[in-house]
Amino acid sequence: MSLPASDLSKQPDNRTTMELGACLPMTAEVKDDHLFIGGVDMVELAHDYGTALYVYDQADLENRMETYRSAFQSRYENSNVAYASKAFLNKAVCRLVARHGLCLDVSGGGELAIARAVDFPMERVVVHGNNKTPQELQEAVEAGVGCIVVDSRTELARISAIAQKLGTTQDVYMRVTPGVEADTHEYIRTGCEDSKFGFTMRDDFAFSCIKDFLNTPHVRLAGLHMHIGSQIFALHSFGEAVDVIVELAARIKREYGYEIDDIDVGGGLGIAYTAEDKPASIDDFAETITTAMKAACAKYDFKQPRILCEPGRSLVAVPGVTLYTVGNLKTLPGIRKYVAVDGGMSDNIRTALYHADYEPVIANKAGQPRTEIVTVAGKHCESGDAVAIDRPIQHPEIGDVLCMFGTGAYCHSMSSNYNGQPRPGIVFVKDGKATLVTRRETYADLMACDID
Ligand code: LLP
Repeated sequence: MSLPASDLSKQPDNRTTMELGACLPMTAEVKDDHLFIGGVDMVELAHDYGTALYVYDQADLENRMETYRSAFQSRYENSNVAYASKAFLNKAVCRLVARHGLCLDVSGGGELAIARAVDFPMERVVVHGNNKTPQELQEAVEAGVGCIVVDSRTELARISAIAQKLGTTQDVYMRVTPGVEADTHEYIRTGCEDSKFGFTMRDDFAFSCIKDFLNTPHVRLAGLHMHIGSQIFALHSFGEAVDVIVELAARIKREYGYEIDDIDVGGGLGIAYTAEDKPASIDDFAETITTAMKAACAKYDFKQPRILCEPGRSLVAVPGVTLYTVGNLKTLPGIRKYVAVDGGMSDNIRTALYHADYEPVIANKAGQPRTEIVTVAGKHCESGDAVAIDRPIQHPEIGDVLCMFGTGAYCHSMSSNYNGQPRPGIVFVKDGKATLVTRRETYADLMACDID
């Protein structure tokens, strides 16, 4: 796969770092031409810990957790926020989620194991996955998770058998695909009709399966779940999906006299990857969901349920950046200019996979205007290996420290060891202090599972 042809008419934006607005972590500042985050000089940090390096603005992470919680709870008391850990998970972020009173959405046994390792309260865990293995289900029920989101009748029967054996009853949600087409990349739409996730509403299938949930012993139908997609800017899609799911809940009550307690509206709020992006705020998102919930409950005569939402990207993407060192430059007149860095598709597959856009700056020239258009290429054996295509940047030179903004979500969690590349370390920065929370992998780690 090669890169899309460069748009040679594109002009640099001449912005300096601090003019990148919503793309910047909360504590970003420029002093003596250097980029600082959390009071820490990113150029020094790159030299101290090596590159490529993931860096998180801890104050921004914590601020977003609190903003989410209060945005929902101030509008709708009976609500909570479950961080979608697939966006980025290590022990450090899991501890922050626990400390801020949020719930945790895990998608499988591995994420659950990390949550257990830091004693995350299991009653606040929601388990996801369209094909959880019997072993993962067993681990979840044994751990005493708050809820398992059920994707199929096969899975419902499996959970019931496991709970019976363990002498318990497991709370479950039924995941439905509400048939709403969210305005986002087709690969990350999940709520439309053609989806491997959950119970389709088509031909009344989801409703016809409700009796199975109600008649299955050792499970309790605690709620309904939906997730319409990711990186969504058009909030009306959420409102439409809430109406569909409340109508289903009201129908369950009418026909079976059974009232579900919770509606989990999924995640999906988009963020600013580029200075041109204009995403909705966390408050706008909460306002849309809670207003739609109250309106739908009034319309269908249904008591207002507990709301759970599951943001991933909008909590962790912007607080996270990746630092690289520029190792080589290559100008192909009339084609493009490459800036080669010491990472790439192994630490950020999103550009190769979705042609995602990012904002790069040179951390040691952060106060200068971005006067050139470049493609930031990785170091992997793949022509399509780039982390930013045709983006403005300050004049690059070999040895510069390049900072890519907005890489806090789905970069570390989708990383790989392609070309034998050890995964970067992760550093949290706050109040002038840097804390290494995940060390860089070593060559020995690459062979740790091999048997001689
Ligand atoms: N809940 C469920 C059930 C999900 O499937 C997801 C994401 C979320 C919550 C969180 O959605 P968020 O708030 O992060 O949009 N790898 C892709 C994103 C895939 C999202 C999958 N599901 C990317 O890099 O853009």
